[in-house]
Amino acid sequence: MIDKAIGVFDSGIGGLTVLKEIIKLLPHEDTIYLGDTARVPYGTKSAETVTRYSLEITDFLVNKGIKLLVVACNTASAVALPALRGKHSLPIIGVIEPGARKAVASTQTKKVGVIGTEGTIKSGAYEKAIKAIAPDIEVISKPCPLFVPLAEEGWTDNEVAIAAAERYLHDMKGVDTLVLGCTHYPLLKSAIATVMGSDVRLIDSGEETALEVRRVLSKEGLLKEEGTGKRTFYVTDTPERFVSVGLRFLGGGLDHAERVEIP
Ligand code: DGL
Repeated sequence: MIDKAIGVFDSGIGGLTVLKEIIKLLPHEDTIYLGDTARVPYGTKSAETVTRYSLEITDFLVNKGIKLLVVACNTASAVALPALRGKHSLPIIGVIEPGARKAVASTQTKKVGVIGTEGTIKSGAYEKAIKAIAPDIEVISKPCPLFVPLAEEGWTDNEVAIAAAERYLHDMKGVDTLVLGCTHYPLLKSAIATVMGSDVRLIDSGEETALEVRRVLSKEGLLKEEGTGKRTFYVTDTPERFVSVGLRFLGGGLDHAERVEIP
């Protein structure tokens, strides 16, 4: 059981930012990543559709024999976790709760900003998770859909990225903590930090999720502590773009992905 892989899925390329943190923290673990590149984006789709896609992908990864599943996509984490946990008994970790916990621990002013896709913001999942821990925290939420194509285009720190960040974030004034509630946003950290100022703490849900994965594996006695982890990548559309753009998201170690049909 300990030798089984960690399964990670996302709507496409973005979840590689979460995988990167998992690999950094848990280099000995094998990982199987699935990017649903044929059906991306999830952020503009209904909760019902995203839940259906997530169930199909989870079946696929569970059939590969994984020991734990990470839902790296914020939108899928926001809407599909109860359905996935209702169907499967393996540990399933989403990105929302770890990010929300960190935001609560970080804020002094009790004013937290949350940015994400339309689907994530509409679900209110971060706000609910934050208020479940600390009901007195004020949460200001905002969808920032243009950050996704900017990150994929590699326009992460130029005048276009700064202008988009200024436009989206101008009403975030007063928050001392901002949750980057979308897989792509960590790539725009520098532009977001320029606009928000150095006093505002940016919460990367991917980093917090990796810590949660380690905590759960350790508690279950499933932590692998030696060897070099094997990386497997699956996509649901042609792999070329996933490999070329994904390399920037992952920072290396991605030279091949296999196309699969889901369901
Ligand atoms: N992975 C998605 C998320 O974190 C962003 C891209 C999409 O809309 O599918 O919400």
